[in-house]
Amino acid sequence: MGFRSELKTVGVIGAGTMGAGIAQVFAQAGRDVLIFDEFPGAIERGVAGIGKSLEKLASKGKIGAEVAASAKARLKPCSLADMRGADLVVEAIIEQPAAKTRLFSQLAEIVPPDVVFASNTSSISVSELAAGSGRADRFIGMHFFNPVPLMSLVEVVVALQTAEPVVEFTMALAKELGKTPLRVKDHPGFVSNRVLMPLINEAIACYSDGVADAETIDQVMKLGMNHPMGPLALADLIGLDVCLLIMEVLQRDLGEDRYRPTPLLRTMVRAGRLGRKSGRGFYSYEQS
Ligand code: 3HC
Repeated sequence: MGFRSELKTVGVIGAGTMGAGIAQVFAQAGRDVLIFDEFPGAIERGVAGIGKSLEKLASKGKIGAEVAASAKARLKPCSLADMRGADLVVEAIIEQPAAKTRLFSQLAEIVPPDVVFASNTSSISVSELAAGSGRADRFIGMHFFNPVPLMSLVEVVVALQTAEPVVEFTMALAKELGKTPLRVKDHPGFVSNRVLMPLINEAIACYSDGVADAETIDQVMKLGMNHPMGPLALADLIGLDVCLLIMEVLQRDLGEDRYRPTPLLRTMVRAGRLGRKSGRGFYSYEQS
């Protein structure tokens, strides 16, 4: 089984928070990055956000000014068809199975077969996505964490079909990005979200039961457990819609009541209180 392991150009699909962060870390690591998003204005917003992040990192001395400038210059907004020029494609679009499956079947027609596909999915079965990609043994999960430029983990999610050399290649690649790769099997929620989401869900249940207010719940976890952020603030950062979706996957695929989403989580999503991205979740962000 041959695959392309020399990466000059990386294609990133999806220019939202995660896609932009992923594009940024590849550009910082010296790769040319093709960046595509089907939503009008998303690429421009993503690239502008990367520019700000690079400036911030440079102003704090975390990267050199020349690294920031060259990373910015490596970002190339493009069309989906331009992905034929990528040596690796990383997908970070909306967390909907149908949307991802459709994208990978389109990409299968566009991108040469020796190019590895990686998905940043946080909850969808990587084995299922691999099955529809036309290159199941060259398909893998590269699960990054928000904010991508600051978080050191890449959870490398190995599908049932992924070939071992592709796993080794992905582990080495994550290290090149300055990240720590940890290998896990494709299983609902992988390790990260199987552990994190029930924690967040339980914090929401405490809030809903009136055990304490949001600030107090978060402070308990920050001061008592040394978490850098409380679970409700973290839910706002991740997006309450994403948290709900992952809880639903855990409940459906693991089939146990302990993964039942707290009703308040569902109500908040229905009300459009999605966290930072909508301006309001457990906290208000309207001024910031
Ligand atoms: N690029 C550059 N700088 C950034 C940044 C970015 N993308 N995002 C934040 N920063 C900056 C902030 O602007 C801030 O700058 P300042 O000091 O000049 O104000 C600086 O980083 C540090 O921020 P804070 O002062 O808030 O300090 P913290 O020490 O709290 O660090 C944090 C912020 C790294 C976000 C930390 O709070 C943290 O680790 N939080 C937990 C995050 C987490 O758990 N993420 C995983 C979510 S789960 C996930 O992504 C998986 C998915 O499948 C759900």
